[in-house]
Amino acid sequence: MSPALLDIHLTDGDADAALRADVRAGLTTIPKQLPPKWFYDARGSELFELITELPEYYPTRTERALLERSADAIAITSGADTIVELGSGSSAKTRLLLDAFGRAGSLRRYVPQDVSEAALRSAMDALSVEYPDLELHGVVGDFTSHLHRLPRGKHRMVAFLGGTIGNLLPAERAEFLDRLRAVLQPGEQLLLGTGLVIDEETLVRAYDDSAGVTAEFNRNVLRVLNRELRADFPVEEFTHRALWDAENEWIEMRLVAQRAITVTLAELGLEVRFAAGEEMRTEVSAKFRAPGVRAMLEEAGFTVTRTWTDPDDRFALTLATAT
Ligand code: AVJ
Repeated sequence: MSPALLDIHLTDGDADAALRADVRAGLTTIPKQLPPKWFYDARGSELFELITELPEYYPTRTERALLERSADAIAITSGADTIVELGSGSSAKTRLLLDAFGRAGSLRRYVPQDVSEAALRSAMDALSVEYPDLELHGVVGDFTSHLHRLPRGKHRMVAFLGGTIGNLLPAERAEFLDRLRAVLQPGEQLLLGTGLVIDEETLVRAYDDSAGVTAEFNRNVLRVLNRELRADFPVEEFTHRALWDAENEWIEMRLVAQRAITVTLAELGLEVRFAAGEEMRTEVSAKFRAPGVRAMLEEAGFTVTRTWTDPDDRFALTLATAT
């Protein structure tokens, strides 16, 4: 058993500077918008874990069932010796891949990458006990800006699961895939999880659950700003809205000001006004169709090796190879 490595490319100071820049830009533009990555402080991560267990939120359990059925085929088709996981979080679904690649006999190393050092440390502590022969090399970083810091390997498969690529806008998505392709050698692979376009009612309910957990998750970004930027958002005066944008084929989450509200962000020296009824976008969660997944991968220099979908066509796992 070799000691686990942890590389830190994202310090608290970097994260704070990024938050300040994102919030200043997002609150001074029209319409107002905040990037979804700021949902995930300790409470936000807990709320997301609760979301994954809601009856309406089908993506996590659908992807897990798909991995349960397909992990052995993925491992045999891939043959990678290193699994890199972007946004690994608790590495819960990853165990299915680690076990399958272990059975296939090719796996040597697991490289989890996450913005949260705490989440990464606790996931790695557990994995080092459960998988004593696996080399662990964690990377604290942001999947949009620290790809070039991923350790090299003989044959890596980068797993980007959960449909998180759908949180990126089309231009950001293309840039992300270009950068990822640029750090891979020909023959190395990407395993991409994408939510698929399904009926609007099921989609909207997944992002607007009856217990109100997603609403709390959405409002949590305001609590983060109140704490980190000494802001005074009256959190309860903003309501949650989820809508399906049929043209862009994405779910949008918004926060709606219930009255005219003036907010002060003391750390930014910024005062921001919301009109009564004004909506601020807090998340885009794009859903895909098979030809669209193929097109975006080919555009970036990957070819689709194989795709696995669940019986209801709600979610896809696509194994793509760098050309
Ligand atoms: C973690 C990005 C996959 O977009 O479905 C869940 C986040 N937002 N409910 C998603 C989320 C609202 C989730 N991802």
